[in-house]
Amino acid sequence: MKGRVFSGARPTGRQHLGNYLGAIQNYVALQKDYDCIYCIVDIHALTTMEGSEGLQDNIREMMLDWLAAGLDPQRSILFVQSHVPQVMELHTLLSMVTPLGWLLRVPTFKEKVRMQPHNVNYGLVGYPVLMTADIVLYKAGLVPVGEDQLPHLELAREITRRFNSIYGPTFPEPQAKLTPFPLVLGLDGVEKMSKSLNNDIEIAISPEETLDRVMTAFTDPTRRFRSDPGHPEGRNIYRLHRFFAPDRVEEIATECRSATIGCVDCKKLLAQGINSDLGPFRERRAALAAKPGYVAEVLSDGAHRAHAIAEETIREVKGRMGLL
Ligand code: TRP
Repeated sequence: MKGRVFSGARPTGRQHLGNYLGAIQNYVALQKDYDCIYCIVDIHALTTMEGSEGLQDNIREMMLDWLAAGLDPQRSILFVQSHVPQVMELHTLLSMVTPLGWLLRVPTFKEKVRMQPHNVNYGLVGYPVLMTADIVLYKAGLVPVGEDQLPHLELAREITRRFNSIYGPTFPEPQAKLTPFPLVLGLDGVEKMSKSLNNDIEIAISPEETLDRVMTAFTDPTRRFRSDPGHPEGRNIYRLHRFFAPDRVEEIATECRSATIGCVDCKKLLAQGINSDLGPFRERRAALAAKPGYVAEVLSDGAHRAHAIAEETIREVKGRMGLL
């Protein structure tokens, strides 16, 4: 039997290059060797929202990107967290074996308290418990995530161990599977690429928009004149060339060092590389977006399949906890 993979992502709408290189491509590749379940975590999103504006649009846009990038609804289960409400039941049950002290120590919780002091809601404290519920509801063994999620995964393992030791072996201890592509920086060249910082390049935009966006990227500050030699190492644009122009990247670096090309030329090359890499994705996306009801159908089928697994786990957990 194949191992089971679970991962969740917040509904952030149209995906950017960071999501694409860091998460989506990895999700796609894992489908070959594992039974994969990928979830858009709308309930988690509510912990940092006030109101529900844009939520449904974000779910649809994100799923279109996932599907066009190669997540296959025939093979994998693709669904929205709230469509399988058993996760909330399991969240409550797991909260009984989770010491509050563990949750208050989580770095992302402390960060959220700093970022939204006016909205330190109860859901924020329980965030990692809900995330654990996501994973163990489907008894997934492997969880592809970025490095920032490692503390959550550690906690998921501790909660699982605690549950298993009190109520008997029920859940496998989930292991993190770090995504192979390193952190993708934003156009500012400093922060991680993210929609909220507006330093991102969305994958679904047109070739012209891509060029415009790439042109705003921060470049080598040591090159004040076109004739100054460049220093490509460690620079964001250079790192992206590695991905989008793998066979030309050394040549581009040499031309930068010798000032044969300037930063504008270099960025034009990058935009070309991105556009040719994403061309087929963009065509598929447009075709899927034009099919009425397609995304809703995929999500309803995914929820149906997830539900069957969830129901079984909940029955087992309630039995172990003396609730049946
Ligand atoms: N916390 C994750 C993030 O912010 C999203 C998430 C929710 C998740 N549930 C999950 C990731 C389960 C992996 C497994 O990116």
